[in-house]
Amino acid sequence: VNEDDGSQRVLEAHQWLAKLYHHLLVNTTEGKDALDYLTERGFTRETIDTFQMGYAPDKPGVVATFLEKKGFHPQEMVKAGLLTATEGGDYLDRFRGRIIFPLRNHLGKTVAFAGRTLGEGQPKYLNSPETSIFHKGKLLYNFDLARGFIRKQSTIVLFEGYADVISAYQSDIKNSIATMGTSVTPAQAELMNRYAEKVIICYDGDQPGIEASVKTAKELQKAGIHVYIARVPNQQDPDDFIKAEGPDRFRREVLETSEPFVGYLMRYYRNQFNLQSEGDRFDYIEMILREVAKLERAVEREYYLQELSKEFSISLESLNEEMEKWRPKQK
Ligand code: GTP
Ligand code: MN
Ligand code: MN
Ligand code: MN
Ligand code: MN
Repeated sequence: VNEDDGSQRVLEAHQWLAKLYHHLLVNTTEGKDALDYLTERGFTRETIDTFQMGYAPDKPGVVATFLEKKGFHPQEMVKAGLLTATEGGDYLDRFRGRIIFPLRNHLGKTVAFAGRTLGEGQPKYLNSPETSIFHKGKLLYNFDLARGFIRKQSTIVLFEGYADVISAYQSDIKNSIATMGTSVTPAQAELMNRYAEKVIICYDGDQPGIEASVKTAKELQKAGIHVYIARVPNQQDPDDFIKAEGPDRFRREVLETSEPFVGYLMRYYRNQFNLQSEGDRFDYIEMILREVAKLERAVEREYYLQELSKEFSISLESLNEEMEKWRPKQK
């Protein structure tokens, strides 16, 4: 954080506001519906405190009144992404009538907020804009709390939603993180690779979640991570599954049955190609060979080549020769 560009003050404003929003959620009648909503969703009081969840009331002037008392100017609050300036010269709270999830950096400081509607309003989640202290392509949600567990287990469980992370964390799956939505940047992949050998991607079980899993897996693999894919059944997301079936079943049936990315991809692409057609069959084989070529471990490469060899009655030698063409050049 650079003192000169006002980042320190933006950071301070966020710490104050996180406190206020949390207070409004847990101690006031204004926050009661929001607190009931979270409780009904199965979040415990301890979890609500740990994640400093909050509530932003649906009335004007909440942020400005509070932060002005703490010595902040409206322009600073705009720069912090906490207020928006109207054409008429007024200031509006960015978050109104929303449940607040503070987004913390790796040091546990709140650097942005995500606000969720209580009901069906759009957008469901509203995030802070990019600011001098918040770069969404660099942040890993919950990394501050998860980091020690990630290091110890050398494994990350990567979710798509904040609610999934919180639900998993509450269920004692503490190596849980998310990005801001489903895309993962090279910077985020690098960061994950520094702390873990293995990432289990546990996105939502719906079609968008499945498609995003493949994209994310490729990005993580480029960073040298061993990627596994977990599948949540019946279009549920991890939070739905945990709440419906319990943490034990989630561990056993979702996390422990996760499979290495290439195996997953073989089945995924099998449904997208017509393997009765010769041309498609060769395209499919090439696609898989390109993925196999990226694997670090020779035993893994051989394992998948064997699978292909059996399925298509092609010799291991030919497959190996073709695969070698796609091997990344050794540095
Ligand atoms: P819940 O309905 O609260 O359980 O949310 P979820 O965690 O299941 O979220 P969902 O699967 O709908 O989306 C996953 C993630 O995508 C969220 O955590 C957000 O980061 C992001 N996201 C979802 N909806 C929106 C949206 O309307 N706008 C933006 N900017 N991001 C969104
Ligand atoms: Mn490795
Ligand atoms: Mn989703
Ligand atoms: Mn979801
Ligand atoms: Mn959900």
